[in-house]
Amino acid sequence: MRHFLDIDRLAPEEVRAILDEAHARKRARQGWPKGKVDADAPLSGYVLAAIFEKNSTRTRVSFDAAMRQLGGQTLVMDAATSQLGRGESIADTARVLSRMVDVIALRANSHNSLLELAHYATVPVVNGLTDFSHPCQILADLMTLEEAGITLKGAKIAWAGDGNNVLTSFIHAAAKLGFHVAAACPAGFRPSEEVLAAGRAAGAVVEVFDNPAEAISGADCVVTDTWVSMGDTNVGERMQALGPYQVNEALMAQAKPEAIFLHCLPAHRGEEVTSAVMDGPQSRIFDEAENRIHAQKAVLTWCLAQGASQ
Ligand code: CP
Ligand code: NVA
Repeated sequence: MRHFLDIDRLAPEEVRAILDEAHARKRARQGWPKGKVDADAPLSGYVLAAIFEKNSTRTRVSFDAAMRQLGGQTLVMDAATSQLGRGESIADTARVLSRMVDVIALRANSHNSLLELAHYATVPVVNGLTDFSHPCQILADLMTLEEAGITLKGAKIAWAGDGNNVLTSFIHAAAKLGFHVAAACPAGFRPSEEVLAAGRAAGAVVEVFDNPAEAISGADCVVTDTWVSMGDTNVGERMQALGPYQVNEALMAQAKPEAIFLHCLPAHRGEEVTSAVMDGPQSRIFDEAENRIHAQKAVLTWCLAQGASQ
C-alpha cells in the first residue's frame, strides 16, 4: 500500500521520481485547457474522496483538478457535513470509503486522525495537511525551486516565522534531497526537538536561529507562512513574538540577489510578509500555487502505481 503521509517515509529516489513526474506532466500539457485529460489518462476509472476537516482553497481545487487531468474523478467532502461530524469513527469511515473509492485524501485537525485513517483504509491515503505536516505543499515548492533554476542539493532554504507544519515537511524533504534549512523562529515557536532530531538523524542539515537576517544571509530561497495556522488559538502571543520575523524588502536583501520568495498561501499581507515582497520580482508564489496541481498528480499516480514514477 502506497500511502503518501509524510516525505520522511519515502526513499530519496521516490521523492525524486515524484518530482520528475510532476515536471514532465506539467511540460506535456503547456497551454492546454485546464480540464483536458492528459494524453495517457493514467487514472481513468479511479475515484478520489478528498475529506476536509479544515478550510482549503488550493488543496481542495488542486486535488479535484489533478484527478480530472489524470482522467479520474473526485468527491470532495467536508467532515462537518458527513457522518464524521456526528461522531462516526475514522476507522469505520476508512473501511467504508475503501469499498467505494480508490484513494482518499484527508486534511485533518490532528495528525493522529490521518494515521488512523491510513491504518484502517485498504486504499492509499494522502496527507492534505495536518497540524504536523503538509507534504504535498513541499513537493510543489521543490518544483518551483527547480523551475527557478535552483539545484536542490546544497541549496540554502531560509525560513522566517512560525516553526509550523510546512516547515516540518521542508525538514523532511531536506534529508531526502540534500538542501540546507536555515530557520529563524522565536522561542516558543521553533520546530519541536523531535522533528529537529529526527531530521538531523536522517541526514538533514537544519539550523535554527533567533535572528532572521542571520538565517536569510546568502539564501537561495526565502519562505514564510502565516503566524496563525488553522487551529491555533494564542493569537496575541503569536503576533507579538513573530512581529520581528516579517519578510520585507530589507530582509529579502540579505538573501542572494537571485533568491526567490515562496509562501504556501493564504498570506496575511502586512503580517508575515509585505505586499512589496509578495508582488515583487523575486516572488514565485503563484507558480508555487499552480504547482500544487502538478505535484498532486504525481503523488496520485505514485499512490496508485500508474505513473512513470514507478
Ligand atoms: N497552501 C494550501 O494548502 O492552501 P489551502 O489551505 O487553500 O489548501
Ligand atoms: N500553516 C498553515 C498552512 C495553510 C495552508 C495552516 O496550517 O493553517
